[in-house]
Amino acid sequence: MQKYFKVAAVAAALSFGALTADAEEVLRFGTEPTFAPFEFSDQNNKVIGYDVDIIDAIAKEAGFKVEIVSMPFDGLIPALMTSQLDLVAAGMTITPERAQKVDFTAPYYNSGLSAVILKSNAGKFKKLDDLSKSRICGQIGNTGVDFAKKLSGNVAAFNTHAEAFMELKSKGCDAVVTDRPVNEYFLSSQKNDDYVEINEFAESAQFGIAVKKGNSDLLGQLNDGLKKIHENGVFAEIHKKWFGTEE
Ligand code: ARG
Repeated sequence: MQKYFKVAAVAAALSFGALTADAEEVLRFGTEPTFAPFEFSDQNNKVIGYDVDIIDAIAKEAGFKVEIVSMPFDGLIPALMTSQLDLVAAGMTITPERAQKVDFTAPYYNSGLSAVILKSNAGKFKKLDDLSKSRICGQIGNTGVDFAKKLSGNVAAFNTHAEAFMELKSKGCDAVVTDRPVNEYFLSSQKNDDYVEINEFAESAQFGIAVKKGNSDLLGQLNDGLKKIHENGVFAEIHKKWFGTEE
């Protein structure tokens, strides 16, 4: 009797597996989760954020599943190029240099750069140019660091955003330059008001989801999914959840 059940269960599992093999395809979704509110770890070390919700919503439309793979930001594009990842959503700005190495979906978020400084320095740094003699912190491989290098000859790039903000806190640098929503999320998550943002913003940017160059099947699925979640209101819901407004 017992044996019969066992065999039946295995047979059922096998046929179920075979039937759903396509629909259950698990894609490797690469990101660097120190970039709140786009991707960061919650108390249980689960990666959450705007990008995670967008990818989950697209995956649901397109009928695939994803598994999050966390890695250093500057490793994401090489990992796509060598097929270690299927897609990257990491608050990644679409740039001409990157677009030579990977393919991007239509933009899904409009961003731009800003600088966070210590409040005690607010009188000293009123515009971005006032940082020209300063040490500026950022994350390795980020557009913020490229921009900071145009402002100052003294730029320190760290593996994570957490380290860059720590360095500002300990006065190892005068400013963190990164995407404006990330700086503003950092400010809003502080219990004190030790930090402020310089009231000048730079380089508008657009985030895209990246795939391996030439992977037009997946690129098409992602673009279709994006379009669908714009149409059915899910995109607006996710935007509202993380940014308080529908777009
Ligand atoms: N938008 C910037 C860039 O593309 C910063 C992205 C950082 N993303 C992250 N998940 N750490 O370079």
